[in-house]
Amino acid sequence: MRKSITEEILLKYMELRTDSRLDDMDKYIQHGSCTTLRHSLGVAYMSLYLYDIFRCKCNRDSLLKSAFIHDYYLYDWHEKDKTHSLHGFKHAKTALKNANEDFNLKEHEKDAILNHMFPLIPSWPKYSEGRLLSLADKLCAIYEIFKKNPYEDLYQMIKEGIQK
Ligand SMILES: [Fe+2]
Ligand SMILES: [Fe+2]
Repeated sequence: MRKSITEEILLKYMELRTDSRLDDMDKYIQHGSCTTLRHSLGVAYMSLYLYDIFRCKCNRDSLLKSAFIHDYYLYDWHEKDKTHSLHGFKHAKTALKNANEDFNLKEHEKDAILNHMFPLIPSWPKYSEGRLLSLADKLCAIYEIFKKNPYEDLYQMIKEGIQK
């Protein structure tokens, strides 16, 4: 792991968890045994890693913020409930609705959250932040299928960070 990226993630996490439901994401399963919070940490890391590799010109802070809350839908989609139907197609809208309630979002952050499920939803992100996030999200989803306790080091670092 790149230390500079993990420190950036910890700082943003501490900022975003204040007066929000960010920690609730650790109650909901995303894939396998991976909670939505863990997944979001992984996507945050991957987004910044890709940003560095591709030397992106987009807004790094917005990319990181969007990565943290792109799946801010706040429910366990495995639980049988008619509001969870078609989760893959609808959760980005729910995530944006919840995120709007808890955070001040810029236009390109809203776009990144709303369109991160491209190409499952036929709406391509308008801004680079969203395109990078969408790619990072897919790479992480594949990784999580094969890895037990994904992002364990990153997750533990965040948990220790909270206790300090
Ligand atoms: Fe998603
Ligand atoms: Fe995701």
